[in-house]
Amino acid sequence: MDLATRPYRSVLYIPGSKTRALEKARSLQTDAIIFDLEDAVAPEAKAEARETLKEALQQDGYGKRAKIVRINALTSQWGFEDVRVLRDAGADIFLLPKVNTPTDVDALADLLDPGMPIWVMMETPTCVFNAPEIAAHHRVAGLVTGTNDLTKDLGCRYRPDRLPLMTALQRIVMAARATRGVVAIDGVYNRFRDGDGLKAECEQGRDLGFDGKTLIHPMQIDVTNTAFAPSASEVDLARRQIAAFEDSQASGQGIAVVDGQIVENLHVVAAKRTLAKVDAIAQMAAE
Ligand code: COA
Ligand code: MG
Repeated sequence: MDLATRPYRSVLYIPGSKTRALEKARSLQTDAIIFDLEDAVAPEAKAEARETLKEALQQDGYGKRAKIVRINALTSQWGFEDVRVLRDAGADIFLLPKVNTPTDVDALADLLDPGMPIWVMMETPTCVFNAPEIAAHHRVAGLVTGTNDLTKDLGCRYRPDRLPLMTALQRIVMAARATRGVVAIDGVYNRFRDGDGLKAECEQGRDLGFDGKTLIHPMQIDVTNTAFAPSASEVDLARRQIAAFEDSQASGQGIAVVDGQIVENLHVVAAKRTLAKVDAIAQMAAE
C-alpha cells in the first residue's frame, strides 16, 4: 500500500521484546505498528529484543499494516546497533526518538537506504520549537507526538483537556501541514482501560487535525479507528457538497448552499479529501 496515501488512524506500540504481542498484532485491525526498541524495552533486554524483532519482521505476516521500527537514540549505546541489525529486516519506516534538531535526523538518514522514510518523535521542548525545520527535512515523512516525555520535560500536569500541551500539539500539526505529505500522529492515552476517556482524547486529536493516535493496548484500536474515520453523516455531507457545487458551477455560479452553509471551492477540496480517506480505509480493510 502507498505509504503516502494510506490511513494512519491507529498506530500501535509493541515492545520488541514481547513475542506474544508481536504474534498477536498480525491479526489486529490496526493501521500501523510501531515496533519499539526504546522506552518499552528495559536496558538488559535490548540486545535480545533486537533479534526477536528482526525475526518477526522477516517472518512478516503483518499484511497492509505499516511497519515502523522505533530505534534507540543514536546518542545512546544501542542506537547504531539497532540500525545495523534492523536496516534490511523489512521495516517500512524508521522512527527516531529524542530528536532536537534536523541534524539529529541527518545522523540516521546517513545510515539508512535513501528510500527509507524517517518519522520523528516530537517529545522534547527543543524539538517542538524546531518543528517546522524538522518537518521540512527531506527525509522526514511523519511526526509522532510523545506526550509523556513532553509532560515530563515541561513539568506540566496531566489534564483531560490537555490545555498544558495545547501549544505543542498545535505546533506539531502546523509543522506537518506546512510541509506537503507529512503525517501527524497524536500521543498515547495512558489509562488504556478507560474507553470513554480515550474516545474524548481521540476526538480532540482528530479535531486538532492529527491523522491518528499512538496506542499502547489492543483494546484501544476500535475506538480510535472509529474516531479518526469520517462518520457516515460526514461522508453524506461531502457527497452532497460536491454535487451541489458542480450544479452551481454548471449554472454559472461559484458558490452553493448545503444545509444552510455556503460551499466554496475550498470546501469541495476538503470534501474530496474526506472521500479519499474513506477509500483509503476501505482499501486497508480489504485483504
Ligand atoms: N500490542 C499487541 N498486543 C498486545 C499489546 C500491544 N501493545 N499489549 C497487550 N497485548 C496483548 C497481550 O499479549 C495479550 O495477548 P493474549 O491475551 O492473546 O495473550 C492481550 O493483548 C491482553 O493483554 P493484557 O493482559 O490486557 O495486557 P498486559 O497487562 O499484559 O500489558 C501493557 C499491559 C500496558 C504492559 C502492554 O499493553 C504493553 O506493553 N503496551 C505497550 C507499551 C509500549 O509499547 N510503550 C511504549 C510507548 S508509550
Ligand atoms: Mg518517548
